[in-house]
Amino acid sequence: MPRVAIVTGASSGVGAEFCKALDARGLDEIWLVARRKGALEEVASGLKTSSRVVPSDLSTPEGREEVARLVSIESPDIRFLVNCAGLGRFGDSFSIDAADTRSMMEVNMSSVVELTSACVPHMSPGSRIIALCSEAAYVAAYRLGVYAASKAFVRSYLDALRLEVEDRGISVLEVSPGWIDTPFIQGVESSCKAPAKVFGGIVSKEDVVAKALRDSDRGRRRSVCGLKTRATIGLAVHLPRFASWYWRRMWRRQGSPAAPF
Ligand SMILES: NC(=O)c1ccc[n+]([C@@H]2O[C@H](COP(=O)([O-])OP(=O)(O)OC[C@H]3O[C@@H](n4cnc5c(N)ncnc54)[C@H](OP(=O)(O)O)[C@@H]3O)[C@@H](O)[C@H]2O)c1
Repeated sequence: MPRVAIVTGASSGVGAEFCKALDARGLDEIWLVARRKGALEEVASGLKTSSRVVPSDLSTPEGREEVARLVSIESPDIRFLVNCAGLGRFGDSFSIDAADTRSMMEVNMSSVVELTSACVPHMSPGSRIIALCSEAAYVAAYRLGVYAASKAFVRSYLDALRLEVEDRGISVLEVSPGWIDTPFIQGVESSCKAPAKVFGGIVSKEDVVAKALRDSDRGRRRSVCGLKTRATIGLAVHLPRFASWYWRRMWRRQGSPAAPF
């Protein structure tokens, strides 16, 4: 049985970086999942490990089922499942385009649950589930409400999943970064521009992924990259209302409280 890593969101940003980092882990195959076939092929072409490009739209049940079916047919020994695919949109939750809101919920939540459920039966002791969560999972985030709620869902789901797969020897890592310098930010701002201050403490995808794999090797449950993000999460855990107030204040201080877009 080939030893495989499955990485969603592999066409860009953190997912592509995970593929590069997993290239050195002695796997037989890396499966790259996202919508853009060309971008996936480009990432795959830089890998030494043999790879399989799986173009799928994870915002649709059909796209998710396609990946699940492939897993079931091939029945590989899944050593890593890395759930990176995700998107966010700034804006008051009631004003964001309905299709974008739906995609956020489908990709950020449904695809994590459905792909994980499809992969667990093909995992064995030592296998790892890694999922991109966010600092936003800890804060009631003004003008990032749906995204933050979707990540809070992932966080809660991972906490329960960890208990459920413990006896199988499978580990679960929540990766909760603050802002990372990737095209994700362009997507988030496509609906509404945010004050520059909101993006404080931005880190690189290389640092996020290197820390995540280090934390996974050490059997940690959560990986948080960067001092500012660690401080924000600490604050949000102990003083959640203050953390939300502070996040909103960063927007309001810009001087256009009602509708900056
Ligand atoms: N960047 C940040 O500031 C930040 C901070 C905290 C958490 N995160 C989380 O980190 C993860 C990775 O984000 P990133 O920064 O690497 O963003 P990115 O560079 O924009 O990458 C997002 C990935 O998700 C894939 N994706 C989006 N919609 C999809 C769909 N419908 N079906 C399949 N794949 C889809 C994209 O591929 P295609 O377009 O080819 O489909 C792309 O590969 C996300 O879950 C995000 O929420 C990011």
